[in-house]
Amino acid sequence: MRVAWRASLEMGPLAEEFNVGVVGAGYVGLVTGACLAYVGHRVTCVDKDEGRVAELKEGRMPIYEPGLEDLVVQNSRRGRLSFSTDIAGTVHEADVLFVAVDTPQGDDGSADLSSVAAVARSIGRALAERPGAGRAQRERPLVVVNKSTVPVGSGDYVSMLIQEGASESSSGNGAVDYRVVSSPEFLREGSAVYDSFFPNRIVLGADKRDALDTMRALYEPFIEQTFPTQVDPRPKVAVPFVTTDLASAEMIKYAANAFLATKISFINEIATICELVGADVSSVAHGIGLDDRIGSRFLSAGIGWGGSCFPKDVAALRSIAREYDHEPVLLDASVAVNERQRKRVVSKLQRDLHTLKGKRVALLGLAFKPNTDDLREAPSLEIARALDQRGARAVGYDPVAGKKAAGLLPNLRVVFDPYEALSGAHAAVVVTEWEEIRTLDLQRIAALMESPKLLVDGRNAYDPRAVRDSGLLYRGFGRE
Ligand code: UDX
Repeated sequence: MRVAWRASLEMGPLAEEFNVGVVGAGYVGLVTGACLAYVGHRVTCVDKDEGRVAELKEGRMPIYEPGLEDLVVQNSRRGRLSFSTDIAGTVHEADVLFVAVDTPQGDDGSADLSSVAAVARSIGRALAERPGAGRAQRERPLVVVNKSTVPVGSGDYVSMLIQEGASESSSGNGAVDYRVVSSPEFLREGSAVYDSFFPNRIVLGADKRDALDTMRALYEPFIEQTFPTQVDPRPKVAVPFVTTDLASAEMIKYAANAFLATKISFINEIATICELVGADVSSVAHGIGLDDRIGSRFLSAGIGWGGSCFPKDVAALRSIAREYDHEPVLLDASVAVNERQRKRVVSKLQRDLHTLKGKRVALLGLAFKPNTDDLREAPSLEIARALDQRGARAVGYDPVAGKKAAGLLPNLRVVFDPYEALSGAHAAVVVTEWEEIRTLDLQRIAALMESPKLLVDGRNAYDPRAVRDSGLLYRGFGRE
């Protein structure tokens, strides 16, 4: 990936500079806060986790994300980015307050809003106690921006909880002035910083004009692309700023993720049919992707989608639909195809190894995708458990996520060298297509592995002919 920014570059003066608070220093909060600080706003990231805040103050990142550390360290040094556990103090200072806390998947698939609700109440209490809280004394209302992915209608719920929090306050007069807006996040893990600087679009849902104006001014450097970068000299084209009502903005996030997940499931369904009829899914994807109504991205077949967003958001959208007695058959099918892809890894292993009992299987890559240490809903977890149930001896390797995986899967032997994982293995599965894994020395692998030297390429990352020429048995997805 291109280096798209240089945190040491100094930004010119901003037309309008804001005090920004960000509640939740996770992937979304931290990246949002650091990028807003880079373009010149004054940002405080708040988190209830004291350890995390202490680490961030020392410039240590709680997550692995390319480019993030540099941004955080440089902007902390410039005094534009700080970290705190004090939500009330941050609310008192802020013009704009982002909420970027977890909305994990509940048991029934719906999004669990308890963190968002707790934060909203605290905002309400702090607002009521804020100096100059009354409408007359304040220049403009606090804009509370929801970045967490929440069910449609949550904007109103958050607003209600802020009001409730304010009326609970003992020292304030309960009169608070605020707006709730929705600004869904589309960044991808592994390229979160890049995506924040160069979004395809910025979506904003609000029911009041003044909140839209504030957000337009805050995002101005991103919309007009006026921050200094060292990107290849691409023309500065304004980023579309899509404004809509709250419910539609919330729906845009779910619809985008559900569409992308379904696009992957679609190509995976086609891949299985390709195997049956003797076609090659890579050629098929190329051929259909050139139709610009379809587009070539997100058409890589393999073991399917995982991560912190797609599974959770598709589950939440299904749950929302069912709440209204609507059967979301297409979304159900998308999930079913995805679950089947993991199982197909096991059947591909069984096809050539027959019984898996006692067989050594190397899992190459454990993170849910390259360039992240995130294991949430990673296919590796399910595959490792399935192998364990069948008595196989699985050995895992990942350039970054190995330690985390060892903690989650006590029965998986994790090693820190890919060739060690492959040594004596009857089969290997490419689970995550890290650059390091795509470019392993095939001759060396063939010399290390035991017969039948099977390579199940879960990401169609290798050239089948090159693998076969090195003496390995190749099985991809949709390209037998
Ligand atoms: C996704 C969305 O892309 C992002 O806009 C949203 O904000 C959060 O969810 P992320 O989860 O970081 O981002 O990962 P992404 O790169 O989109 O990949 C999602 C999953 O799909 C991964 O498991 C990946 O391996 C898989 N995938 C992706 C495929 O199997 N085939 C593809 O062609 C593309």
